[in-house]
Amino acid sequence: MEEAQKQEICVDERLQHIAFIMDGNGRWAKKRGMPREYGHAVGAKTFERVTRFCGDIGISTVTVYAFSTENWRRPQHEVRAIMKIFGEYLNTARKKADENRVHVVFIGDMSIFPENIREQMRTVDVETAQYPTTLNIAVNYGGRDEIVHAVNALLDEGKTHVTEEEISSRLYTAHSPMPDLIVRTGGELRLSNFLLWQSAYAEFYFCDTLWPDMGEAEIRAAVESFYQRKRRFGGV
Ligand code: IPE
Ligand code: IPE
Ligand code: MG
Repeated sequence: MEEAQKQEICVDERLQHIAFIMDGNGRWAKKRGMPREYGHAVGAKTFERVTRFCGDIGISTVTVYAFSTENWRRPQHEVRAIMKIFGEYLNTARKKADENRVHVVFIGDMSIFPENIREQMRTVDVETAQYPTTLNIAVNYGGRDEIVHAVNALLDEGKTHVTEEEISSRLYTAHSPMPDLIVRTGGELRLSNFLLWQSAYAEFYFCDTLWPDMGEAEIRAAVESFYQRKRRFGGV
């Protein structure tokens, strides 16, 4: 993209963290007479493009909702196809690190994945740690699961009473600031168990664009909308 265009939407410290609910892959494919799996494959390409672009405009943390704790309810063939795409991403993430320029961190309950996959996730994390933009990829992620996990970690440490700060510090996103802007594509107006704790004072942007069609123009519109909001955090 043009340097001038890039400058046009450079962000400042007010917008450090954008989170995306990447929704609409299945409908995008169905509209084209294709199986839902095709939408996931194209959506994966969009994900790399969008996250690179967010880094380019100066966002320091991007979080994407890739697979929820509830998405296991989908037909086996679809789940298998999504996991295959995820495995391919893991295989190429190290090679593509210089191109994508993001520090890849996986968030969610990883205990469900076999040890070799978890090892790959840790390797990608360590080997991309030098890039300034953090990309949190939420897989087997659920906001409620995350809070329960945080509280159980505190109980295991012997705590009998917990504070907000302690819960925040045990979330999967403990290394990241709270999201400033949550963008959901695909037209649904809900959180679907995403960042429940962290979204307390986030701004929301919902659009009808289906995730595979997500691009620079829509991100620009989301960012512009964000800068028109007055965040009061309960003050006046
Ligand atoms: C989002 O797209 C991707 C995942 C949940 C893995 P969907 O697969 O939910 O697509 P729609 O919402 O059915 O169109
Ligand atoms: C939310 O999308 C989960 C992800 C984008 C990974 P869903 O398609 O699963 O959400 P619902 O079922 O419409 O609420
Ligand atoms: Mg959906």
